[in-house]
Amino acid sequence: MKDLNLKNLPGHIAIIMDGNGRWAEKHMLGRITGHKKGARSVRVTVKACREIGIRYLTLYAFSVENWFRPSEEVGALMELLETYLRLELPGLIKNDIRLTSIGDIEALSGPIREILGDAMEKTAGNKGMVLNLALSYGGRDEIVHAVKKILKDCQDGILRPHDVSKDVFSRYLYTCGLPDPDLLIRTSGEYRLSNFLLWQSAYTEFYFTDVLWPDFRRKHLVDAIVDFQKRERRFGLTSGQLQRD
Ligand code: FPP
Repeated sequence: MKDLNLKNLPGHIAIIMDGNGRWAEKHMLGRITGHKKGARSVRVTVKACREIGIRYLTLYAFSVENWFRPSEEVGALMELLETYLRLELPGLIKNDIRLTSIGDIEALSGPIREILGDAMEKTAGNKGMVLNLALSYGGRDEIVHAVKKILKDCQDGILRPHDVSKDVFSRYLYTCGLPDPDLLIRTSGEYRLSNFLLWQSAYTEFYFTDVLWPDFRRKHLVDAIVDFQKRERRFGLTSGQLQRD
């Protein structure tokens, strides 16, 4: 882990795991094989983050838009998720990793909701790292969902419109309780946010790599963190102001 400064790690890393389909095409394999290889990278990345000492890892595993992919692909992704949760639960428990999720979880099938709920419950007390899966997630949907909940709470007299602030608003998002991501990684040479963590990424550092997600390994993660460590995060202030503090 040369070059990695363990004193300046991003607390929260978010990843847009892109390029499974192109990886499969490149190797003349079906898209579903690409996703299976992608699941392997998930395993490697979770392990590496835990070992390095990352506190929060959010993975964009399935977007609201992904429901509109061909039904066989959606089915295969759901099956992969189920297999992943079943196979990885003992490892999550052993490594003190807490599983959480964000997104429209109600849209998932009953059996998946059950396995997910069970895994979240069994890891709820874990303190080593939070693995947060974005499932049926969309940033705009999340914001609309929060606005509706705020309106309802105002109507019910639980909240006063005057008291709605940035902090209060954040608490109505799926990510309530999670810090904003410090570093967002997107693989496969695409430079988009694709409806991911729109509100939360206001001051996030972005890192793009051409590596396709199924090829993503620990060294790529370390490269991204080292790059992050070279940046000066100003949060709208000047460089001089930061140096004085
Ligand atoms: C993007 O590749 C990836 C996805 C839509 C889903 C991510 C899913 C996994 C990594 C597999 C399993 C996940 C878990 C949590 C077990 P793409 O299909 O958009 O690739 P393309 O842009 O090259 O077509």
